[in-house]
Amino acid sequence: MTRPNMHYADLQESYLFRRIAQRTATYEQAHPGVHLYRMGIGDVSLPLCDAVICALHEAVDDQANAKRFHGYMPECGASFLREAIAAHYASRGVSVDADEVFVSSGASDELGDILDLFDAGSSAMVIEPAYPAYVDANIMAGRPIVHVPACEEEGFLPRPSEAARADVLYLCSPNNPTGAVFNKAQLQEWVDFANQCGAVILFDAAYEAYIEDDELPHSIFEVAGARTCAIEICSLSKTAGFTGTRLGYTVIPKELVRCGLSLNGMWVRNRTTKTNGVSYIIQRGAAAVFTPEGQRQVREGIAVYKRNAQVLMRALDEAGIWYCGGRNAPYLWLRCPDGMGSWEFFDSLLHQIQVVGTPGEGFGSCGEGYFRLSTFGDPRDTVEAARRIEDLLA
Ligand code: MLT
Repeated sequence: MTRPNMHYADLQESYLFRRIAQRTATYEQAHPGVHLYRMGIGDVSLPLCDAVICALHEAVDDQANAKRFHGYMPECGASFLREAIAAHYASRGVSVDADEVFVSSGASDELGDILDLFDAGSSAMVIEPAYPAYVDANIMAGRPIVHVPACEEEGFLPRPSEAARADVLYLCSPNNPTGAVFNKAQLQEWVDFANQCGAVILFDAAYEAYIEDDELPHSIFEVAGARTCAIEICSLSKTAGFTGTRLGYTVIPKELVRCGLSLNGMWVRNRTTKTNGVSYIIQRGAAAVFTPEGQRQVREGIAVYKRNAQVLMRALDEAGIWYCGGRNAPYLWLRCPDGMGSWEFFDSLLHQIQVVGTPGEGFGSCGEGYFRLSTFGDPRDTVEAARRIEDLLA
């Protein structure tokens, strides 16, 4: 009999956001026609900006023209997009070669796929509360996981220690779910630690566009020594509304070598075998994000979500609820009121005021007692959700 991957038996029955969707659907079935205020999964509510839409339309027309038509795309990404991304890094003072940039179909896909680079027995360090896909992808691969709890007292930004020693170190900054952001000195400690023990950092920078404070690093490659120990995984999902369009990018420096093998070269080998590249149309839409007009327009969208954050922060302040995040990150991480459990609070918000959020426990056991609100909702819904939260909790 075919033996399936038995590691799946070690997973929770369903993925966090699926569990939330199922509970929400059950509520909707029981209350037909009721409007829900969706602040759960970090899915964007604004349409793609004009610069992207125009580029997508033009690319569709190219596909109707024999001279401009594109079939298979280069597996690691079209050179026009890899160069545009490298130029974007350069504009922020970070030097990255175009062939160190790999175009992907999204950060969440890549965070699991990239594990192919590491030995089957490699361990992975995850700072919790954490984006649940880090843990689930490693469970599926049967890899040992080193769970490092992060606590409120240290701002959810633990320092490296012996307890964090592992082959692969996941860092997410700005953090999903807590909104905490490593400063340069804190990131330097992790880079030094990884270089000392030969570990590789997987730096999830999906939310870097939300950083407002000038001194905070957007990229791990702003830190000395990162080119010999880090891979950076980025996404246009939250920056430019590509959650449904799908496009991300990964930077693997050529200096990143382990046991004589270049991880950049290995990823070229992997991608050329396992993918036929992201579609031409989507890559053209993505390239528009990196034009001056595209950057101006995506900044306008981010400003809308930042206003949502302010609306929610004001409501929590009025209600006297402790929270962090929201300033340099699109998530608010709050303490559930009256010692409530995070799923208990989820049910209470859903049933009493029709607001959907994300229970902190879904990001790891040390997220119990906390709750995440996304700022990516429709602005009018966010205003109403904030009013309802304030009325319920004040
Ligand atoms: C989240 O809500 O944590 C994210 O939207 C999930 C994702 O990016 O896949």
